[in-house]
Amino acid sequence: MKFAVVGSGTMGHGIAEVLAIYGHQVKLIDISWDILNRAKQRMEESIRKFYEKGTVKEDPSVILSRIEMSTSYDVAKDIDFAIEAVPEILDLKRKVFQSLDEIAPKEAILATNTSSIPISEIAEFTSRKDKVIGMHFFNPPQIMKLVEVIPSKYTSEDTANKTVELARSLGKVPVKLRIEVPGFIGNRIFLRLMQEACREVESGEASIEEVDSCARNKIGLPMGIFELSDYVGLDIDVDLWENIVKRGTSDVPCKLFKEKVARKELGVKSGKGFYEYPGNKYLKVKLPATSKVDPARLLSLAVNEAAWLVENNIVKPSEVDDVMKYGYNFPKGLLEIADELGIDNILRNLEDIYNKGYSAYKPQDLLVKMVKEGKVGKKSGEGFYKYA
Ligand code: CAA
Repeated sequence: MKFAVVGSGTMGHGIAEVLAIYGHQVKLIDISWDILNRAKQRMEESIRKFYEKGTVKEDPSVILSRIEMSTSYDVAKDIDFAIEAVPEILDLKRKVFQSLDEIAPKEAILATNTSSIPISEIAEFTSRKDKVIGMHFFNPPQIMKLVEVIPSKYTSEDTANKTVELARSLGKVPVKLRIEVPGFIGNRIFLRLMQEACREVESGEASIEEVDSCARNKIGLPMGIFELSDYVGLDIDVDLWENIVKRGTSDVPCKLFKEKVARKELGVKSGKGFYEYPGNKYLKVKLPATSKVDPARLLSLAVNEAAWLVENNIVKPSEVDDVMKYGYNFPKGLLEIADELGIDNILRNLEDIYNKGYSAYKPQDLLVKMVKEGKVGKKSGEGFYKYA
């Protein structure tokens, strides 16, 4: 198949690389040759790593030869599928989608890798709303297996099926939402993790390092919450936070993230965020081995969000878990972990924080009902899952 990838930053270059590894022709479009040349260097480095490990057998130069770079949309005139990965600015997305709509063949599917802008708003910029869809990869897209597939109210079933199929053919695990919600699944839950992490620090309950030590050493996550926020980029975190909240999701007061962005401390890419990254390269952060933070407290708001998604029939518990396992490399699904920690413990923490005046922590009916019925997780034989 022939693809266009628009935007060659962190996500765009990774997506183009994955497509080329799987044998596709790719036109990688960006606004300047400086940016494109940097992307080429990153793709070369990454493909070389895979080649040296043996996960990619083909000669890296052959894979790279399938990627044509351009600063013009003209190269998209014979594509089958486009994936946009430009910054989260609606006006920018409008320009990209109008250009693609004008140049790409009428039957081509136009996907967006947006992490938080509604797909229906983007579709409205085109004359092919039924062929516009969300195809949300996770960072680094070369490694993370998850792709969220988000049909808007206009997307045809054919477009959604083809996108799910494409994701599978790239070795990914697609999770398709039944209804589009702001932030989709992964980022709604990631937002809740950032909010609770921030609340614990700003209320003096714990330090940044203690929160992250709990996440990594007690829960077994690959990164702490602040460490992951740095890895994603604090500007991106703040954008997705604001995009989700302004569309109706409850907020938690937090200054830490915005203050960092105001100081241009954006995380790994700027060399400093909550932690320091010499040479603007990610290096596992050093954390204390022990932490007083309670995992059931740190995960409580995220589990409440997952309960909302399940209650509203947007995804099933196993799909929430796939999102966290394949999109964030959780060692187990979020709801599997919740069952182990005890739904009663999760609920107790939510009630406690809610009673301190944080309205976003209002427990979901589903959690209250589960506890009332004694379905408190593994210890009772049933929670989100059943246990023998
Ligand atoms: N290309 C090729 N290989 C890469 C790579 C890349 N771009 N990035 C990392 N690797 C390889 C490394 O070379 C290394 O290989 P070896 O084990 O053979 O040495 C391996 O991956 C592990 O990398 P590191 O040793 O550098 O570090 P790590 O063990 O901490 O793993 C990680 C890095 C895979 C990123 C891991 O920390 C992780 O899973 N973190 C969580 C990432 C996550 O949650 N992503 C989702 C973010 S949210 C998002 O993306 C959505 C959004 O819209 C904001």
